[in-house]
Amino acid sequence: MPIYINEEKKQFHLQGKNTSYIFRIMKNGQPGHLYFGKKVAHREDFSYLFQLPNEPLGNATFTFEGDQHFSLEFLKQEYPVYGTGDFREPAIQVSQPDGSRVTLFEYDSFNLIKGKPALDGLPAVYTESADEAETLEIKLIDQKLKAELTLSYTVFHQKNVILRNAKLTNNGTEELKINRMLSMSVDFPDADYDLVHLSGAWIRERNIESNRLHKGIQQIDSKRGTSSSQNNPFLALKAVNADEHSGDVYGFNLVYSGNFTAGVQVDHYDTSRVFMGINPFDFSWRLEPGEAFQTPEAVLVYSDAGLNGMSHSFHDLYQNRIVRGVWRDKERPVLINNWEATYFDFNEEKILSISDEANRLGVELFVLDDGWFEGRNNDTTSLGDWTPDLNKLPNGIAGLAEKVSRDSMKFGIWVEPEMISKKSALYENHPEWILGVQDRHLSHGRNQFILDLTRQDVRDYLFDALSKVFSSGPIAYVKWDMNRVMTEIGSAQLPPERQEETAHRYILGLYELLERLVSAFPDILFESCASGGNRFDPGMLYYMPQTWTSDNTDAIERLKIQYGTSLVYPLSTMGAHVSSVPNHQTGRTTPLETRFNTALFGMFGYELDVTKMTDAEKEEMKKQIVFYKENRSLIQKGDFYRLLSPFESNDTSWAVVAKDKSEALVAYYRILAKPNPGLKRVKVFGLDPTTLYRVNENGLEMTGEELNNIGLLLPPFYNGTVHTPKTFMAGDFRSVVWKLEAVK
Ligand code: DGJ
Repeated sequence: MPIYINEEKKQFHLQGKNTSYIFRIMKNGQPGHLYFGKKVAHREDFSYLFQLPNEPLGNATFTFEGDQHFSLEFLKQEYPVYGTGDFREPAIQVSQPDGSRVTLFEYDSFNLIKGKPALDGLPAVYTESADEAETLEIKLIDQKLKAELTLSYTVFHQKNVILRNAKLTNNGTEELKINRMLSMSVDFPDADYDLVHLSGAWIRERNIESNRLHKGIQQIDSKRGTSSSQNNPFLALKAVNADEHSGDVYGFNLVYSGNFTAGVQVDHYDTSRVFMGINPFDFSWRLEPGEAFQTPEAVLVYSDAGLNGMSHSFHDLYQNRIVRGVWRDKERPVLINNWEATYFDFNEEKILSISDEANRLGVELFVLDDGWFEGRNNDTTSLGDWTPDLNKLPNGIAGLAEKVSRDSMKFGIWVEPEMISKKSALYENHPEWILGVQDRHLSHGRNQFILDLTRQDVRDYLFDALSKVFSSGPIAYVKWDMNRVMTEIGSAQLPPERQEETAHRYILGLYELLERLVSAFPDILFESCASGGNRFDPGMLYYMPQTWTSDNTDAIERLKIQYGTSLVYPLSTMGAHVSSVPNHQTGRTTPLETRFNTALFGMFGYELDVTKMTDAEKEEMKKQIVFYKENRSLIQKGDFYRLLSPFESNDTSWAVVAKDKSEALVAYYRILAKPNPGLKRVKVFGLDPTTLYRVNENGLEMTGEELNNIGLLLPPFYNGTVHTPKTFMAGDFRSVVWKLEAVK
C-alpha cells in the first residue's frame, strides 16, 4: 500500500520505492507540507513534524484572531493561495466578479484511486495496471465561490516518483478568472542546494547550468509558446555535497509543451519553495459555471544516488509510462535524412540514389525532409499546402515511397503542419487562420507564420490534409517539425476577454490534433522536432516517442547537448545523426569515427550525401551500422551513466549498461589533444560488482567492482614521439567506444 492515510489527524503519507512524501491538513483547512525525501517507515501519527515558533515573531501576520502562533509565514505549504499571509510565490490566484482576488480553499474530503486517471486533454504519465500506482485526490472547497480545488498526487510502488496536478471546478453561478494556477509547489526546510537546470539556444540546447541557491527568486521560464531551447521545463535541487553518483537530488519536470514557469524562492528563513506550472505571464482563463480547469502534470523525482539516480527515474518513467504505442518497445530503425545532403535541391533521381546506396550499406529508413511539396524551393513559401511537387517528384509521394521501399528500406516524410507561408493557397483562402492580432504588425520567423490551432476548423483541415499525405503510400515514419516561436499572441476567434487564453488553448489544440493523428496512424513512428530541440519535453513524448535533439550535428557540440539532455530524457528519445564535415553548424572537422561514437548514443541515423562518400568511408559506415544494430537494444533500453562531464573538462565519458548487467558500452571522448598525456583510467558505474567483464577492444578482463573502483584502464594515448600501428587517440576530437561483456 503506497498511500497511508490517518483520517482522524488528516495526514497523508505517500511511499514510493525509496521515497516518502508526507503532508497534513492544517487547522486552517489548508494542506501543509511535512516532508519529501528518502523513504521513512510509516508511523500512525506524524504530528511531531508540524512545527510553529513558540512565541510570535516580529510583524508576522496570523490567520486566526487571537492566535499568535499560526502564521503561514513560517509554514510549509502544499498549494499556497494568494492573500493569506504567506508572502512567497503563490500557486493560485483567482479574480472574482466583485474584483476580489482573495480565496479560501478548505479541506473537504479525500479520494483514493487505484492506478491513475488520465488528464482531460493533456498528456500525462499513465499506468498499465491498477496495481502499480495509487492516486490521492484532496478536495478543497471555497464555500463562498462554490469552487472546488482538487490536488492530485500519484505514487508508484516501485518508482521514486510523485506526480502532481491541480484542477479547479466552478460550481458557483458566476464566472471566475484564473490569473495563476500552477501544477505544483513544495517547500523545503533549507536552502543548501545547487539549482541545476538546462538552458541554451538554437543549436546549443540543454547545456547544464548549476548555481548555488541564494535568497530571492531564481526562476526559468518560456514566453515563446514552446517549452523552448532557452530553458527546458526542468529543474533540480542538488544537495551541495551530491554529485553524479551519490547524494540527495530532487528533480522537477513539467509535462507540457508551451509557456511555463519553474523556480525556487529562498525566503528570509532560508526555506526553499519550488514551483512549476503554466507561465502566469500573459495568461488568464475564464471559468464559466460548471467548467473545470486542469493544470498540466508535474513530475517530482527524489534520488539518493546523485544526478544519475535522478536521471534513471526520469528515464524509466518516460520510456515506459509516457511514450506510448507500438514504437515504445520496438527497436528503432537506422535512418538517413536528406536535409543536410540536399537541402531544397533534389529530385526523385537524387533521392533514390541516396536511398539505394544507404540501403546497400545497411540503413533501414529513408526520410525525405523539407522541400517535397509544391513550390517549396526555399523557405519563403508553400507551408500549409501539403501537395507533392510533381516537378521534383513526378510520381508524387506515393510513387517515391513505393520505389524507396522496394528493398529492406522504409520511407518516412517531413511535415511542418503548424505553420503557414503567406505565399500559399491556404493563406489566400484563410488569412484569418494565422495566429496574431488583427491590424497589428506581425513578426515572422523564417518567413513563416503560425496557424491558429485554437480553432477547430484549422485542426480539422490539418487532420484531413495530413491523413491524406500519411495514407498516400507506404509511410513508416513522420518527422513533425515546428520552426518558429510565437509572437504577438492572439486569436481572431477568441473574444477580447479570452485573448490571454490563446497560448494555452494552442497547446491544447495541438495535443488534440496529435491524439487524433497518432490514433489514426498507430504504426507510424513519429519524431518531433522544433528547429531541433525547441520543444523537447515529456508532453511531446506522449505523442511521439523520439525528438530531433538539436539541429546541431557537430559531434563535439553534441557531447554537451546529449549529456545535458540525458539529465531528464532517455537515449530512446534522442535523435542523433552522423553528418558530413566540415560540419554545417560549426564548421568543425571531426573524424568519422567520433561522429559515429557520439551519434551511437541516441536513436541513430545519418544526415549526409552518402553518394559523395569515398569507398573507405562507406566501408566504415557499413561497419558502424552493423555495430549499432548489434547494440541497438542495449542503447535503447539500457541504463545510461554519465561518467565525465564535457561542461567540466576536456574529456567526456558515459556508459550504457544492460538492465541485466550482462553487457555495457563505455565511451570516452577527448576534445583537444594533450601533448604527453600520461595514462588514463575511467571509473565505470552500474556494472555488477562480482561479474567478470571482458573488454572487447583489448581482451582485458576486470570485475565490475574493479571497473568501478580502479577504473577501466585506457590504452596509452599517443604521447608525441613516433606513430606506430598501436598509436591511439592522436589529434583533436578523438574518441573510443569499448564493449564490455560478462565472461560466462
Ligand atoms: C529544421 C529541422 O530541425 C531540420 O532538421 C530540417 O528539417 C529543417 N527544419 C527543414 O526545414
